[in-house]
Amino acid sequence: MDLSGMRILVTGGGRGLGRRFVLDLLDAGARVGACDVDEAALDELAQLAGEGERGLWTTTCNVADEADVESLFRDFVAAHGGIDAVVNNAGITRDGLLVRKKADQLQKLSLEKWQSVIDVNLTGVFLCAREAVYHMIQMETPGVIVSISSISRHGNMGQTNYTASKAAVAAMTVVWSKELAPYGIRAVAIAPGYTSTEMTEAIREDVKAKIVSTIPAGRMADMGEISQALRFVLENDYVNGRVIEVDGGLRI
Ligand SMILES: NC(=O)c1ccc[n+]([C@@H]2O[C@H](COP(=O)([O-])OP(=O)(O)OC[C@H]3O[C@@H](n4cnc5c(N)ncnc54)[C@H](O)[C@@H]3O)[C@@H](O)[C@H]2O)c1
Repeated sequence: MDLSGMRILVTGGGRGLGRRFVLDLLDAGARVGACDVDEAALDELAQLAGEGERGLWTTTCNVADEADVESLFRDFVAAHGGIDAVVNNAGITRDGLLVRKKADQLQKLSLEKWQSVIDVNLTGVFLCAREAVYHMIQMETPGVIVSISSISRHGNMGQTNYTASKAAVAAMTVVWSKELAPYGIRAVAIAPGYTSTEMTEAIREDVKAKIVSTIPAGRMADMGEISQALRFVLENDYVNGRVIEVDGGLRI
């Protein structure tokens, strides 16, 4: 697929990887929509992009909310005359051990922490993929569903909820590649390793140093390196039903 003029909606586009994806796709000539729960982040993004000139479209949306997601896609399609790709990027972490023993006290990973990650990272991807595909099939346009999984899908300590969501995203991608091929729609996942964004900023410095020491590349990924993988996946029509790993050689 040619990126120029391609109509692409990026979830969680306000900051971090999502923001980088949006700016790089605009540079490549795509018509890009960005949604986020964080309105201030979207305002900042619009300023960075120079909204009017480059045709960036932004709106607030909680990807875990069905009604919100339905109107997100309805509005994007109405504004652009269709949709060619969605990048399921919005994601959160709420880390914790399943059961933690500290000074003889046992602490459980709360249902709230479990559910909030599942709501955004799994239900959010399901809802956005479903709505994108609904419009693609209705308008008989081919397209691509790109979902951001993670190296953590292999089972990262302290991330029961996140690992479950990211493994599910990889699995759903395989299902969709089979179901949607008759409509000319591809589904691909990208699994970044540790990448320098606001999300990883939250990791304690000593923990971060320990993580980096395990990465064969000797550093975290730059956002541009993950964005390059997104571009490859969007452009190459033979990439389908796979998880593209961009992790500096790290194995979990
Ligand atoms: N940073 C990493 O090391 C890393 C590694 C592997 C995978 N990932 C994945 O890449 C994606 C982006 O990560 P990031 O590091 O840029 O995170 P980030 O926290 O910097 O940005 C995430 C963005 O998503 C938005 N968001 C959160 N909940 C939302 C919701 N319910 N609806 C809409 N928007 C919402 C946030 O407001 C934020 O703008 C996530 O799916 C993450 O799991 C990140």
